[in-house]
Amino acid sequence: MRFVVKYTEYTLFSCLLLFINGGTNMQEKKNYYITTPIYYPSDNLHIGHAYTTVAADCMARFKRMQGCDVFYLTGTDEHGQKIERAAREKGMEPIVYVDGIVKNIRELWQALLISNNDFIRTTQERHEKVVQKIFQKVYEQGDIFKSEYQGWYCTPCETFFTERQLKDGKCPDCGREVEVLKEESYFFKMDKYAPRLLEYIEQHPHFIQPESRKNEVLSFIKSGLDDLCVSRTSFRWGVPVPFDDKHVVYVWFDALINYLSAIGYGEESQDSNFRYWPADVHLIGKDILRFHAIIWPIMLMAMDLPLPKQVFGHGWMLLDGSKMSKSKGNVIDPLILVQKYGVDAVRYYLLKEMSFGQDGLYSEEMLATRINADLANDLGNLISRTVAMIIKYFGGVIPETREAAALDEEMQASAGQAYAEATEKLEKLDFSAYLIATSRLVSRANKYIDETAPWLLAKNDGQQGRLAAVMYNLLECIRIALILTAPTMPTLMERANKQLGLWVQGEEVKWEDAGIWGMTRAETQVAKGESLFPRIDIKTLREDEPVEEIKEVKTSAPVEKAETEKPEVKDEYISIEDFAKIDLRVAEVISCEKMEKADKLLILRVKLGEEERTVVSGIAKHYAPEDLVGKKVVVVANLKPTKLRGVMSYGMILAASDDQYVDALTVTKDIASGNRVK
Ligand code: ME8
Ligand code: MG
Repeated sequence: MRFVVKYTEYTLFSCLLLFINGGTNMQEKKNYYITTPIYYPSDNLHIGHAYTTVAADCMARFKRMQGCDVFYLTGTDEHGQKIERAAREKGMEPIVYVDGIVKNIRELWQALLISNNDFIRTTQERHEKVVQKIFQKVYEQGDIFKSEYQGWYCTPCETFFTERQLKDGKCPDCGREVEVLKEESYFFKMDKYAPRLLEYIEQHPHFIQPESRKNEVLSFIKSGLDDLCVSRTSFRWGVPVPFDDKHVVYVWFDALINYLSAIGYGEESQDSNFRYWPADVHLIGKDILRFHAIIWPIMLMAMDLPLPKQVFGHGWMLLDGSKMSKSKGNVIDPLILVQKYGVDAVRYYLLKEMSFGQDGLYSEEMLATRINADLANDLGNLISRTVAMIIKYFGGVIPETREAAALDEEMQASAGQAYAEATEKLEKLDFSAYLIATSRLVSRANKYIDETAPWLLAKNDGQQGRLAAVMYNLLECIRIALILTAPTMPTLMERANKQLGLWVQGEEVKWEDAGIWGMTRAETQVAKGESLFPRIDIKTLREDEPVEEIKEVKTSAPVEKAETEKPEVKDEYISIEDFAKIDLRVAEVISCEKMEKADKLLILRVKLGEEERTVVSGIAKHYAPEDLVGKKVVVVANLKPTKLRGVMSYGMILAASDDQYVDALTVTKDIASGNRVK
C-alpha cells in the first residue's frame, strides 16, 4: 500500500532519485544471485562462518528492498577425507555424522535470521548427478586425463601441494602437518586456460575484490599453473567418477559445482532457476580465494559458461591474534551470543566491526561496548527520547502546523547524505562503512535535539509550531535510520514500529524510501514501549573471564621497560621500511578507568578515526583517569593484542619516562584521531 505524502519538501537529490527509480520500476525485476561458501560440517560452525553468512544475508535483504529478484544460496560441503575422518573419530558413518551437524547449522542460520532461498548439501542427488555430468563432459573434451599423483596433501585444507610449495615441511596455508600421497589420479589441464583467465581478470577490474587481493591471484597464475589433481582413490567418501568408480571426485571440484547444481544446471525447463547464472557475488573468506578466483573460473571456462561477476574475499575474524578455526578449537559459538544479546545486536556487531576486506578482532567486551555505544546510547536513546517528547508535548501525535528553520535543511541534507553513502558502500560490500554512515545520521539527530532544545521550546506557547517541526524531523531521521539498518537488523524495524507507528501492518518498505524526506504521515501516533537495546554491564562481563597473570606487561606498558633498561642508542640501523611497519596513530581517549586490583593499570577506550578500541596501559600511578579523557595520545595500532589481567588490550600508548616522570605523548594541535604518526 502506498500513501499520499503530505508536507513534502523534496530536496533536488530526492527528486532525481524518484525519477531514476521510477524509470527502472517499469522494467523487469533485476536478478541478483549471491552465495556463501558451503561450509564443512566437520564440526559446529563458529562466529567466523556466521560473519560471511550474515554479510551475504545483509546484501540479500538490501537487494530485495531495492526490488531485485534475489537468490541467496548457502549450504554444506560434505564429502572428502576431512569429513570422513571426523566421522570415523566419532565412530559414525559419515552421512549420519554430517546429518547431525547440518541440523545444527540450519538451526544456527534460523537463529541468525538468515534469509537464504536454498540450502544445498553436496550429498544430495541433485548435486551429485551434476558433478558427474560435468566431470564426464570435461573428460570427453580432453581437459581431464589419467596419470599418477605424487606429492603432499593437507587434509584440513583439502589441498594438494608440491614439495616446493611447503613451508618448513608444513602446509603453507594453515601451518599444519601434510601427508605424502602417491596414487593414480585424474588431472585437469588448468594451464591451458591460464592466458584466458589472465585476460579476463585484467578486463574485469571488479571480478576479484577487494582490489588488494587481485595481485596475489595474478602473480599466482603468472607463476604457472600445475595440472590439478581432481580424483582420489585412497578413500571412498565422495562422488564416484562416472566412468571409473575406483575414483571419487576431488572434494573441491565437487564443492565448487554447488553454485550451479543448486540452480538446476543441465535442466531443460524454461523457468529453471538457472536464469540466475552468472552469480553476482561469491562471498568468501580470503582463505579460499584461490579456489574461487582461479580453479572455479577455469572449470567454468572448460564448461563454456560465463564467469561470476564478482568473487569477494573478506578478511578473517581473529581471536587472541590468530584465526578462529574448528580444528584449533579457539571458537566462539554464535548461538550463545544470540541468546545473550539478541540477533539484531550480534549481526550489527559483526558487520560494523570488521573493516572492508581486512582482518578484525573478536572480543565479547568489544561486542558489548559496541552495542552500548551505537545501539543502546545512540539509536535506542534517539528513539526513546523522541517518543517520550512527542507524548509529553503533544500527547503522541505531532500537530500538522509546523514551522521550519534553517537548521532543518542541514538535518535533511545529512539524511540524504546518509542514504547516498549507505547505498554506495553496500553496493561495494563495505559493511562497516555503510553502518558508519547510518551511525553518523543517528548522531546528527541526537545533536539536533541538543541544538533545538525542545524542552525550552515547550515552555513558550508561541513556539508550538517550531516544536512540532523539530519532532517531525526527528521522526523522519528515525524512519530513515530504521530503513537503512533493516538489512543488518531484521527485527528492529518491527520492534521499533510498535512505538513509532510509522508503518501500517504489512506495508512494503522500500530501500528508496530512505532517500525521500517527508514520508512520515501527519497522523502518526507514537506510544511508549520497551527499551529496544538494554545496556550491557561490561563490568559483569569481565568478571566472567578468567583472570590471567600478566605475562608480558612490557609489550603493553613501556614504562616498566624503561625502568629496567638504561636507554642507549644502538648503532644498528633499521630501514625506513622497518619503521613503516609500526603503525603509529593519533588516538583520542574517550573514557578511562582504573583496573580493579591492578594498581599500575588503566583501561582506556580510544578512538582512531571511526574505530574504537580498548588499550590497557601501565601508567595508572602517573595519571588520574579523568586527566586523560579528551587527550589525543599516540598509539601503536598494530601491536599484537594481548590480555592483561583478563582484559584484552589492542595497542600500546607511547610515553616518555625517567626515574621521576612518566609522560604520555600527546598531540597538541587539532589533528583528527586516526591520522598516522611518522
Ligand atoms: O573452506 N573469519 O569450508 P570452511 C572469517 N568447504 N571468516 C571465516 C573464519 C574466520 N575466522 N573462519 C571461517 C571451506 N570463515 C569449504 C568451502 S566453497 C565451494 C567450499 C568463513 O568450513 C569464511 O567464509 O572451512 C571462509 O572462507 C569459510 O568460512 C571457510 O569455511
Ligand atoms: Mg576452513
